[in-house]
Amino acid sequence: MSAPSLTSFSAYPIVQAPMAGGAANPRLATAVAAAGGLGFLAAGYKTPEAMYEEIRQLRDQSTHPFGVNLFMPQPRATDPSAVAVYAEQLAGEEAWYGTPLGDPEAGADDAYDAKVAILLEDPVPMVSFTFGCPSQKVLEAFRKAGTYTVVTATSVPEALAAQWAGADAVCVQGVEAGGHQGTHRDDPQLDNAGTGLLALLPQVREQVGLPLIAAGGLMRGGQIAAVLAAGADAAQLGTAFLVCPESGADPLHKRALTDPVFTRTELTRAFSGRPARTLVNRFVREHGPYAPPGYPQVHHLTAPLRKAAAAGGDPQGMALWAGQGHRLAREVSAGRLMELLIEELHAAREAGA
Ligand SMILES: Cc1cc2nc3c(=O)[nH]c(=O)nc-3n(C[C@H](O)[C@H](O)[C@H](O)COP(=O)(O)O)c2cc1C
Repeated sequence: MSAPSLTSFSAYPIVQAPMAGGAANPRLATAVAAAGGLGFLAAGYKTPEAMYEEIRQLRDQSTHPFGVNLFMPQPRATDPSAVAVYAEQLAGEEAWYGTPLGDPEAGADDAYDAKVAILLEDPVPMVSFTFGCPSQKVLEAFRKAGTYTVVTATSVPEALAAQWAGADAVCVQGVEAGGHQGTHRDDPQLDNAGTGLLALLPQVREQVGLPLIAAGGLMRGGQIAAVLAAGADAAQLGTAFLVCPESGADPLHKRALTDPVFTRTELTRAFSGRPARTLVNRFVREHGPYAPPGYPQVHHLTAPLRKAAAAGGDPQGMALWAGQGHRLAREVSAGRLMELLIEELHAAREAGA
């Protein structure tokens, strides 16, 4: 059975990024799809049951195609003692927020096998993967189930690995992107080696024959026109949709994206042990410089701190995931945002024609 084309999933080549942690939800995906985009659910950090419940809710609300995103299981932390040292360094935060740190060993596979089993049992139109490349066997099983597969890549070798394994498409993620970099392996030797989207995309285009979804820093339709011109088949936007009323992101997080107090973003391991782009706040400034590689152990460790900071109304202790374009975020409904993006895309294409 041959896979459908990427562009057949939505009227416009605009994908709402899967955003784990609560931002992506059935309401946002429904609104995006109703306006002609492709909506995504994020299964990361959720139990398999919670993932399936969201799929059920989305199916109740919308008849449009949608995607579900999975985190790949992670190898053991190279140096567990570094995570223990980090826990000691966070003692002041424990005291400040009045909550113990989380259990770093609360699970490293994100229930990947159970989620894959559910998605094969009751297939969805699209599944995307981040933090690694699934086996040929898993990708083949999804193909047989009629599910279109997308693997996130942050470099040419990762995109080639996705093609070799049998993915239907690649999500090319530039270093500008908000949230975690989807690198297949967290290698501290490669810190600061991330490539910007407009530099990376044509390199992948020239070596990989698959359809490409471009992600990272895209906030306006003109940028979408630019990545389409540079070889992408669609554009994936996270931060732009994060501020929409339908997004489940914490209101403090939404507000921070355009708050002039936050002047820049940074890739940091401070919250999760894997490089992720956030607004630079007190927590990132204080702990980012020595936070060790150790995902998801560090994620589990800091989870209660982040929760307590949010509950206490303190954005300086929250993970404020944001792409480099965060200043351009528009607080409008997802439907209105889609309209604006489409108008800008058309205008850019006419100007270029
Ligand atoms: C809050 C947030 C959560 C994210 N969670 C996921 C996720 O669960 N899975 C994934 O593949 N990408 C995730 N991403 C990355 C997006 O897929 C995408 O690469 C990124 O948002 C693009 O950059 P932008 O935010 O500048 O648009 C997340 C991004 C943000 C901002």
